Amino acid sequence: MIIGVPKETLKGETRVALIPQLVSMLVRDKHEVVIEAGAGDGASHDDAQYTTAGARIAKNAKSLFGEAEMVLKVQPPTADEAAAMKEGASCIGFLAPASNPKAIRALAKRNVTAFSMEYVPRITRAQSMDALSSMATIAGYKAVLLAADNIGKMFPLLMTAAGTVPPATVMILGAGVAGLQAIATARRLGAKVEAFDVRAAVKEQVKSLGAAFIEIEGAEDLETAGGYAKAASEEFLKKQRATLAARFSKTNIVITTAQVFGKKAPILITREMMTQLKPGSVVVDLAAEQGGNCELTEPGKTVEKNGVTIIGAVNLPATIPVDASLMYSKNVFNLFKLLYPKVDATPDFNDEIVKGACITRNGEITNESVRNALQGGSEQ
Ligand code: NAI
Repeated sequence: MIIGVPKETLKGETRVALIPQLVSMLVRDKHEVVIEAGAGDGASHDDAQYTTAGARIAKNAKSLFGEAEMVLKVQPPTADEAAAMKEGASCIGFLAPASNPKAIRALAKRNVTAFSMEYVPRITRAQSMDALSSMATIAGYKAVLLAADNIGKMFPLLMTAAGTVPPATVMILGAGVAGLQAIATARRLGAKVEAFDVRAAVKEQVKSLGAAFIEIEGAEDLETAGGYAKAASEEFLKKQRATLAARFSKTNIVITTAQVFGKKAPILITREMMTQLKPGSVVVDLAAEQGGNCELTEPGKTVEKNGVTIIGAVNLPATIPVDASLMYSKNVFNLFKLLYPKVDATPDFNDEIVKGACITRNGEITNESVRNALQGGSEQ
């Protein structure tokens, strides 16, 4: 199969969907790999590394799309990229179908079999393909570094000849993949960390990382059978906000990562609560793209309100391109190997993972939730 890896075109996207190390494995499996010139530059993999690994370099995207039978991407293809793909080709990437109706329809029109990394079901067998978790791990880590870089104090407790420097106090809201990594990173830097999540099961994990779990009166376990969180009631959110606000005068940094599957991010920090944070404090809102956990977050921007810095973090994985590409391309590779265990194999569309991740096939939008979401949706 001819596997093509174009250069990502979204501004600020530095990741690449396939690193040279994995090119050699695909070539060993008798696939042909074509990389657009400069595709790996942002992740410090130059064309020479790809050719050494056995890939061919395509001069431009047009020639690559013209011959690739499988296109590997990070960001969703644009409608033009989708239209340029070879009729009947396949594609794997973060497709963000709900926000890309035009591109998804173009993929279907081109008869492309498209697999979306976000739709890989979060089941045990698919853990090695779970790109959302890989990227959230990176985002949780980077959120702490951003906070450290924007706060005028150090993280660890220091006892020096000049006196005692108290540790930074960090509050982490939402202890899923990103939140747990943020806790671990802040602890490694020596901060005093406390965290809260609506899923009772994570309490032990929070404690095992050396952080305190914030107890909130009336908290119920909101974990679903699938391991996700249910939306908290407005009554509980009010209690939660009051408990958190009461701790804000002793908090230097708040990192928010709360999300409820398929819903807008819950507001955990209101405009009024912000006045309880001391000037110089920092809020990093990882849910910025989902509407934000803080009412004053501006996605993609760092703003200052009453002396408090609010970072509306978006696409943090692209700020750590080497490891983000390493993890992402391994996830993509593992999905590819499930689809094509042998060079002449065809995907088993009855497999739960294959079926779940497939968005378009045979000219149709095959994923029911995407089809419903796009029906009557706006053209973008
Ligand atoms: P996750 O689903 O593993 O974790 C979210 C956690 O929020 C869950 O543990 C859930 O129980 C918790 N939660 C829900 N409602 C809550 C509430 N009211 N209070 C406290 N906790 C609550 O999600 P993951 O993968 O850790 O991602 C977290 C967020 O980070 C998401 O919004 C995701 O889109 C975002 N993200 C942002 C990136 C960026 O560059 N800005 C990159 C990757 C992820």
